[in-house]
Order: sequence, then structure tokens, then C-alpha cells
Amino acid sequence: MRASHFLTALLCYLSAVGYGFISPQPLTTHEDSELALLMRTMYNDAETIRKAILEKRLPEDFREKFKAIYTAQPTDPEVKDENFTPFTNGFLQALDLLYQNGDDQIENFNTVVHSCIACHQQYCPGPINKIKKLYIHN
Ligand code: HEC
Repeated sequence: MRASHFLTALLCYLSAVGYGFISPQPLTTHEDSELALLMRTMYNDAETIRKAILEKRLPEDFREKFKAIYTAQPTDPEVKDENFTPFTNGFLQALDLLYQNGDDQIENFNTVVHSCIACHQQYCPGPINKIKKLYIHN
């Protein structure tokens, strides 16, 4: 892990703490990046999708909004290295599968969650435990 990635991991850890993901501490005071703010709404949007699937409804389509991952400024600019775009592509492809295929929605949703986590393992491990809660267990 490069030093800059360590910094991002640390910031992610702090934001996870701030969110009560890890323990009920008050919010940390670092300024939130565009990417961090987008991610926070993405978490809520993923919960909305999850709820729709559990209720056997068609999930709302957030793909256009999520494409902002490509351009949103991260806390640490070094996050946007040569691997970041492939991770984003993989995430959006998992969403394509979810919206194109009415069958296997639970499995396809879990693949989306898996691709959130794949990117987080690389860049931002702090929120992983929280993201894992999105998985739908049969
Ligand atoms: C392509 C990589 C990538 C994907 C895919 C991704 N994330 Fe993130 N996520 C990040 C990075 C990088 C950050 C740190 C943002 C920053 O600090 O600027 C982050 C931050 C977060 C945060 C913390 C935000 C805060 O409060 O600071 C949450 C929560 C989060 N992501 C949830 C998700 C969820 C849920 C998904 C899938 C629906 C997802 N992420 C998909 C890279 C990704």
C-alpha cells in the first residue's frame, strides 16, 4: 500500500467512525470531498434498492447519478489511479446486470454489493463492515 493510500484508508476509517459505523462517536471534522458525499448518498440509495428487491418491486435506477464516481473529487487525489476506472466500470456493469435482468435480483444485487466492497478493499477499507450489511441473505 502506498503512503497516499494509507492516508485515504485512515480518512475512510475516521469517516466510518464519524458515521457511527464503528462506534457511536461524534462526527469527525475533516471537510467532506465530493466523492465522500456521493458515497454517502450511494449507501442510502443502495438501501433503497435493497428494500425494493425484498418487497419484490422494481428498484429505482440510480445509474446516471452513480456515474459521477468517475468525476467526483476524492479526499485524496491519488485515489484516482489507473485501477480506479476499472473498479468503477465493474460496479456500473454489476448495476446493468441488476436492471437488465428481472430474474435473480437478489443474486445480482449481492454482486453489486460485492463490487462496492472490491473497490473499498483497494482504496477505503473503513466502511466495509457497514457495506456488508447490505447483502441479502436467503
Ligand atoms: C470505484 C471505487 C468505489 C466503489 C465502486 C464504491 N466506493 Fe465507496 N468509497 C470509495 C472511496 C475512494 C471512498 C473515499 C471517498 C473520499 O474520502 O473522498 C469511498 C467512501 C465511501 C463511504 C464513506 C463516505 C464518508 O462518509 O466519508 C461509504 C459509506 C461508501 N463509500 C459506500 C459505498 C457503497 C455502499 C458502494 C456501493 C453501492 C460504494 N461505496 C462503491 C470508493 C468506491
